[in-house]
Amino acid sequence: MPTEALKLSQATVRYPIRGGVLDKTQDFFTAVDGVSFSLHQGEVLALVGESGCGKSSLAKAILGLAPWSLGDFSFFGKPMNLNSKKDLKKVREKVQLIFQDPYSSLNPRQSILEILMHPLVARSYNKVEALEKIKNTLHLVGLNQDSLNRFPHEFSGGQRQRIAIARALVLSPSILLCDEVTSALDVSVQAQVLQLLDEIRNKTGVALLFISHDMQVVKAISDRVAVMYLGKIMEMGSVDTVLHHPKHPYTKALLESIPGLDPNFPPKILEGETHFNSKHKDSCLFAPRCVYCRSECVSQSIPLQSADGVQFRCLFPLERSL
Ligand SMILES: Nc1ncnc2c1ncn2[C@@H]1O[C@H](COP(=O)(O)OP(=O)(O)OP(=O)(O)O)[C@@H](O)[C@H]1O
Ligand code: SF4
Ligand SMILES: [Mg+2]
Repeated sequence: MPTEALKLSQATVRYPIRGGVLDKTQDFFTAVDGVSFSLHQGEVLALVGESGCGKSSLAKAILGLAPWSLGDFSFFGKPMNLNSKKDLKKVREKVQLIFQDPYSSLNPRQSILEILMHPLVARSYNKVEALEKIKNTLHLVGLNQDSLNRFPHEFSGGQRQRIAIARALVLSPSILLCDEVTSALDVSVQAQVLQLLDEIRNKTGVALLFISHDMQVVKAISDRVAVMYLGKIMEMGSVDTVLHHPKHPYTKALLESIPGLDPNFPPKILEGETHFNSKHKDSCLFAPRCVYCRSECVSQSIPLQSADGVQFRCLFPLERSL
């Protein structure tokens, strides 16, 4: 069994809602609500779900960029307090975030050498060691050394994403948090970046938390998938099981909304809005949009349960169908 790199228990992210003349905190908005999972070395766990379900908030909270409000976090078996600067520094040394947009995440005024040198110098590497690391990392992401004196605008979108990946890898992280890293790229370039990430995890054993809207991309790269809805995990298990035999109606609806998955069936739009309503508290969160909803679903909150190696939050799980 590979080593457990990261474990979250009941992770909760609450953003303050400010208002009034003094701009004081009036209330809190819960973006991530009691999420628990582990990520093992060399593993790719995908986080999927519609816009606003809390995927980025969860990734940011791991790095202290969003408020970690409740829950336990452990890193290679050691409990860490993500609200302590000392613990956060340790986590940030080994966990790196790669953003969706390689255009805006790279400083246009810095050469690639400066971009890659910066995190190493900040961690007290001497110039010789740093240059050696940079050259090895460039090789790992498939870029030539003559890239070093060039600037981000001289590269294509796919190459810029390679540079962003190199910047994340230069510190030899144990975990990469990939937030929609292929969304801004053409389909053919997407495939190259996915292949690159797969090669990197095979060579280095890095674990990936892979956030995406795109189920096709998720299928291509992930070992396991967690489906989020309104801040909670609705279903989690191996990619093959969850995406081919979903138990949760929300997972099924997400899959059915993908254009071109089955040429015999046009994509079905998932009707209704994802918005939090406090009336849903003692109800299944998906009930207002669920075609299988029964009276039992709206009179209680629904716990996660397990069967066939999958966790799901539904009283009437679907039989094997897709
Ligand atoms: N800084 C913030 N302050 C208040 N609310 C926020 C903040 N950042 C995000 N939110 C809210 O938290 C919820 C989750 O946002 P988040 O960005 O994590 O979603 P997401 O799943 O990453 O969406 P997308 O797929 O569009 O990137 C949303 O309702 C969003 O409006
Ligand atoms: S618990 Fe009921 S409403 Fe919720 S997803 Fe399952 S069938 Fe649908
Ligand atoms: Mg996001």
